[in-house]
Amino acid sequence: MGFELESAGLTHGNGFRALQRVSLRVGRGERVAVIGPSGAGKTSLIRLLGTALRPTEGRLDVLGANPWRLSAGALRRLRARIGTIHQSPPIPPRLRVVTAIHAGRLGRWPAWKGLLSLLYPVDVAGAHAALARFDLADRLFERCDRLSGGQLQRVGIARVLYQQPDLILADEPVSALDPALADAALGELVAESARSGASLFASLHAVDLALKWFPRIIGLRGGEVVFDLPTARLTDSMLHELYAAEGAMLPVQARDAAAGATTDPEADAKVIRLDTSRGR
Ligand SMILES: Nc1ncnc2c1ncn2[C@@H]1O[C@H](COP(=O)(O)OP(=O)(O)O)[C@@H](O)[C@H]1O
Ligand SMILES: [Mg+2]
Repeated sequence: MGFELESAGLTHGNGFRALQRVSLRVGRGERVAVIGPSGAGKTSLIRLLGTALRPTEGRLDVLGANPWRLSAGALRRLRARIGTIHQSPPIPPRLRVVTAIHAGRLGRWPAWKGLLSLLYPVDVAGAHAALARFDLADRLFERCDRLSGGQLQRVGIARVLYQQPDLILADEPVSALDPALADAALGELVAESARSGASLFASLHAVDLALKWFPRIIGLRGGEVVFDLPTARLTDSMLHELYAAEGAMLPVQARDAAAGATTDPEADAKVIRLDTSRGR
């Protein structure tokens, strides 16, 4: 199993209720996208699943265990099996790219190897291969603070693939990439999940990318699941309803791909109509 939430809720320290009554079951190897307007609770949900935050209500099961009932050692081993791609990767700036990639396996390597990897690149070939999938092979020995935001985001994705986790959590993993790179990077994530059997759960800002790459889509708004459907069963009105508070516009990547952003809501609707008709 990937993970399961049953009537889960999350109230932040300041009393804000970011998630409520969330029930979800994602199987092993399943690929699911979560979409919804800014503030819907996507990041909170991903942090809950990554065990960075503890649910304040309901039940959470990740890779077959309730993380909050595990011993410290067992929780550490569980976390080593979860790979999280953050929107802005938490990579110390002076680190070299090769070391940042190796950090993906720190939770799995014995302590001696982890320590050694900080001083000396222990698996240059493996790190090189992971970076090559994102057109970054020539940056292997570059310092992370010399990379652009988009390059850093791809290093964050490559690091998680290098980790070989059983569950990949991705929080808007391609938000800093141009449309062609975003599409290619998502393709790599999907291919990795298909190859390794890891479950993939990704929040995405661009609705068209979610429709293209994921067979199941969850709509989140105000901390609640408003739909959870096979992509082929999603309708335009469900999508427009989800983003109703943001006006007529659906956030799509294809719009940014055109020369200059269009302000014609009809154009966006056409993009979505084309994509939702796929597979029906
Ligand atoms: N640490 C926090 N403390 C208090 N409120 C938070 C915290 N993190 C997020 N929130 C609030 O929870 C809601 C959901 O946020 P978030 O999960 O970041 O949504 P999304 O990723 O969909 O934009 C927002 O209203 C946000 O202001
Ligand atoms: Mg977010």
